[in-house]
Amino acid sequence: MANIPYKIYLSEEEMPKAWYNLKAVMKELPPPFINPATSKPCTAEELNHVFCTELVDQELNTRDQFIDIPEEVHNFYKMYRPSPLVRAYCLEKKLDTPAEIYYKFEGTNTSGSHKLNSAAAQVFYAKKQGLTSLTTETGAGQWGTALAMACAYYDMPLMVYMVKVSAEQKPYRKAVIETYGGKVIPSPSVTTEIGRKILAQHPDTGGSLGCAISEALETSMKKENCRYVLGSVLDHVLLHQSIIGEETKAACEKYEIQPDILIGCAGGGSNFGGLIAPFMGEKIAGKNNMEIIAVEPASCPSLTRGRYAFDFGDTGQTTPLMKMYTLGSGFIPSPNHAGGLRFHGMSPIVSKLYHDGYFSARSVEQTKVFDAATYFARCEGILPAPESAHALKVAMDEAIKCKETGEKKTILFGLTGTGYFDLSAYMSYNDGTMEDHIPSDEELEKGFATLPQVEA
Ligand SMILES: Cc1ncc(COP(=O)(O)O)c(C=O)c1O
Repeated sequence: MANIPYKIYLSEEEMPKAWYNLKAVMKELPPPFINPATSKPCTAEELNHVFCTELVDQELNTRDQFIDIPEEVHNFYKMYRPSPLVRAYCLEKKLDTPAEIYYKFEGTNTSGSHKLNSAAAQVFYAKKQGLTSLTTETGAGQWGTALAMACAYYDMPLMVYMVKVSAEQKPYRKAVIETYGGKVIPSPSVTTEIGRKILAQHPDTGGSLGCAISEALETSMKKENCRYVLGSVLDHVLLHQSIIGEETKAACEKYEIQPDILIGCAGGGSNFGGLIAPFMGEKIAGKNNMEIIAVEPASCPSLTRGRYAFDFGDTGQTTPLMKMYTLGSGFIPSPNHAGGLRFHGMSPIVSKLYHDGYFSARSVEQTKVFDAATYFARCEGILPAPESAHALKVAMDEAIKCKETGEKKTILFGLTGTGYFDLSAYMSYNDGTMEDHIPSDEELEKGFATLPQVEA
């Protein structure tokens, strides 16, 4: 085998020119979105009121395994891609494991995460369609930052509903979004009907992604020539994120690396879906038998403790219904959860693959996640985003298992971003005040009670 460098960089010419559409290779597809008003599958026309037309086409495309990346988006990608596949030599040494550990590092752009891969594409399509503004939500802030960066590049006004607790925990994240020209509104807010209703019911709420989505959607529907864009969950977002998996696969092939275990963190499922896409395609075709693991927080455990059911994507219950693993749109994670990945549901594609047994899922508590993040920062130098550190934690667990069994497995995980805006969470970890919250079955039942009744 070739001598493997610390960092494998593909050249710009080697960067994939098409995204990988998992739906074209899945044996069974997730069911279509349901319009709650008609109880019928949503039509493209209905979706066009909410999303850009080309994104709707991508959302509904089950035919083409590869979808060309427009040249303009490819050029945007070149500002920060290809991203490196890193051999974690220092971590391997510190853990004293026979395992080989690799991570695909998506934190090399200014926004600090993989979210820019979809932001670059979504704003391009919005501009091409002649839209004059966009709205979105952001939880931890990475999506809002990435989108603000892309909007600045394409000169597109942007309004970001930011989960209130995140806006308070991360004032600098808000400042970056504003520097790129985005307008930030902590959610729930009094600027929307839904925000006012949620505030009346829960005046002290720290907000949730579900609330912020409702507000962003309401605003986009009321504003002319405005559309809503989402940074995760939807099929077209996973499509854009497939660039992560394609580059990873190309780098692995270049150095004859064959991962035994592939690990990604899962919030709404976009980086996980993107990282696994081409590997999963091969797995479905019986060409590999890789172990694939999604990692989520114990405080928001949609895959490991959720139900596979039709549900709304937002707390205000205004989106189409999607079949997914969900804790119920009324579930709001504990405000002391600082580790990101706070969405109540999971991407329909990821949910369907999980339901069909193609991968497993684990949940981890945030103090353990920060133990892993700190350990990693001290040997590999990168300060990981708490979200990414979920995948890291399980990669380290697997490497420690290898030490115990003597197996020399190849472990690859997605390091989706950096944690420089998560320092208040690191501070609470460092001073010992960080707590874990694992919802009780009774708490989860309250969320499940908000699931809509949908006829089969
Ligand atoms: C750095 C980072 N990693 C992972 C995620 C999880 O999102 P997703 O599951 O859509 O990849 C987020 C979401 O905000 C993030 O900021």
